[in-house]
Amino acid sequence: MTLSQILPKEKGLVMIVGKGGVGKTTFSAILSIYASKQLPTFVTSIDPAHHLGDVLGYKLEHREKRIAENLIANEADIDELIREYLSKSINLLKNSYKDITALNLDKYFDTLKDSPGIEIEAMLHYIVSLVRKVDEYKYIIVDTPATSITSRLIGLPWVQGVWVDNLIDLRSKIAGLKEVIESVKAGKKVTIDDKILKELIQMREEIERNKKLFMNSDFTKIIGVTTTEKLPIVDLERLSNSLKNRGIKISSVVINKYKKDENGLSVINYLKEKFPEARLILVPQMNYEVISIEKIEKVIEKIEVL
Ligand SMILES: Nc1ncnc2c1ncn2[C@@H]1O[C@H](COP(=O)(O)OP(=O)(O)OP(=O)(O)O)[C@@H](O)[C@H]1O
Ligand SMILES: [Mg+2]
Repeated sequence: MTLSQILPKEKGLVMIVGKGGVGKTTFSAILSIYASKQLPTFVTSIDPAHHLGDVLGYKLEHREKRIAENLIANEADIDELIREYLSKSINLLKNSYKDITALNLDKYFDTLKDSPGIEIEAMLHYIVSLVRKVDEYKYIIVDTPATSITSRLIGLPWVQGVWVDNLIDLRSKIAGLKEVIESVKAGKKVTIDDKILKELIQMREEIERNKKLFMNSDFTKIIGVTTTEKLPIVDLERLSNSLKNRGIKISSVVINKYKKDENGLSVINYLKEKFPEARLILVPQMNYEVISIEKIEKVIEKIEVL
């Protein structure tokens, strides 16, 4: 069996997840080198503490860079993503509600850019924008930060869904009341085209699309990385359980720094039991640092897919 089995069939999104320090960036680099030999691939890191460029042996930045024939890479600048996301949201507000120009939205920019959770929103927005390019790059591989952030990132559309449902409820009541008042005034039935309600309904549609993006296991592959130690395994199980509640599954589990000893074998058996539907990938412990395409290619030869 080969690594092709863990990639989406024709095109799609691959998110590499797991506890801090288990080898997510190393595996993202490995998989992107492998994938780019099959089809055009884009690999990006959304970890504010980037190492993707170090592993691939290239200086990467926010701007996309071609690093192999079929491979484009970048390290997303999270502050830049937040700025882009906020500018877009503020412009949308300004264009939609020209009548509220009295509210100076620009002065909120600095407050919003430091507000908790904003980077998660910006990251989701970025991933969705990359998915739009899936016909250009068939495989989009995302190296993520540690699981605490990834879990909130993937869960975000569900949180947004609850908010927007409540807002739609509230706004429908307001629009209903407005209609009653206008109808009484006019002495006949008046229907009001409520712009805000329309906007909220559009937001809900987008949120539903994002939920489906993560739930579509043919298109989106969530690949968990762990070592043979207890803590990263527990961490991955927790993430898997919280994803399961949302109908999302971890499609493959990488056992990194694998050694063929008794402990290694018992970890394989344990993970087979805990992730019965997932493919297991064994990446051996190398006795050199994996920090160039040449070295990555050597590791690829040694990988086993169970
Ligand atoms: N199979 C391997 N053999 C030998 N060393 C490895 C292997 N995989 C990863 N390493 C080393 O382990 C360290 C951590 O790997 P890596 O940076 O890929 O983990 P990470 O999960 O991305 O970490 P972080 O959560 O900090 O982003 C690095 O020094 C890397 O070179
Ligand atoms: Mg990393």
